[in-house]
Amino acid sequence: MANLLSVQQLDKSFGNHRVLHGVSFEVATGHIVALVGPNGAGKSTIMKAILGLIPTDGGRLTINSQPVSITSHQALKQVGALIEYPGIYPFLTGKQHLKLFANKTQRTENIDAIVAALGMGRYIDHKAKSYSLGMKQKLGIAQALVNRPKLVILDEPMNGLDPQAVKDLRDYIRQLADQGTSFLISSHILSELEKLADDVLILNHGKIVQQSSMNDLVTSGGTSYLISTTDDVAAKDHLRRAGIQLAPTEKITLRQQEGQTLNQALNILVSAKIEITDIVKVQHDLEESFLDMVNTKKEDN
Ligand SMILES: Nc1ncnc2c1ncn2[C@@H]1O[C@H](COP(=O)(O)OP(=O)(O)OP(=O)(O)O)[C@@H](O)[C@H]1O
Ligand SMILES: [Mg+2]
Repeated sequence: MANLLSVQQLDKSFGNHRVLHGVSFEVATGHIVALVGPNGAGKSTIMKAILGLIPTDGGRLTINSQPVSITSHQALKQVGALIEYPGIYPFLTGKQHLKLFANKTQRTENIDAIVAALGMGRYIDHKAKSYSLGMKQKLGIAQALVNRPKLVILDEPMNGLDPQAVKDLRDYIRQLADQGTSFLISSHILSELEKLADDVLILNHGKIVQQSSMNDLVTSGGTSYLISTTDDVAAKDHLRRAGIQLAPTEKITLRQQEGQTLNQALNILVSAKIEITDIVKVQHDLEESFLDMVNTKKEDN
């Protein structure tokens, strides 16, 4: 499928602080891509660069094959975004905000559809100064969607939303994606996007440390084996020398991943005459896998 957004070798520093290191990824047409990473990883910086809001130090950004930079904004006509906090005018109503942002041709029908989908009907004609955090957040998301853009960039859109609002938003995003809209959505909580995203990018310290389909991440990344032996130090040494990757834990923790199986590891230990005393299969949830990935990378640095 064609890629709507392409990010190639993106570099960014603020002063001496290097914030993005050669970030590359693609967003395919009609795909929902999760950009996940801890606070300060660089998620908002990537999104601001894609929107031509900040200068970059290297790399290439294209939307629908058209380049984007701080000085070329033509391609951004097809993009809707909410970055960090919504811009809200306290003395306008929610509806007036949406009219302000909407193209003339899109107006009433789209506005009504979005208001209904996000459950904003009860207060859309009230002045925004009376809105709660979650209501403002929904209005910001509605502003990003009102012109039916081809690409939607949402920075932590679930912030402040209650469970019903999260579900409404998820359902609406899925519906738009099924009609061909592409989404790049950030969060610092991987499980928040588990039910929504097609693809996942995990960002840590300005680098992409994992890039896969959500399905692969959920099915393969989540299992490991804890192996106990009579000599764990020697066992780890033999396994590592044979090229088996172990998690940086005190116990022998073998992640189930491509190219290494439990059987291989056990064969190595048996050949080395190390006695295996126990094997436990551990099913991680997505959050644990995410923390593992982020923390392993920290130790590598
Ligand atoms: N305008 C700026 N000037 C200097 N440093 C900045 C600026 N904007 C961001 N940074 C730094 O860049 C790094 C990445 O910030 P960014 O806001 O992209 O992180 P994030 O992943 O969005 O984090 P969060 O989950 O907290 O929103 C941080 O170390 C931050 O301090
Ligand atoms: Mg951010």
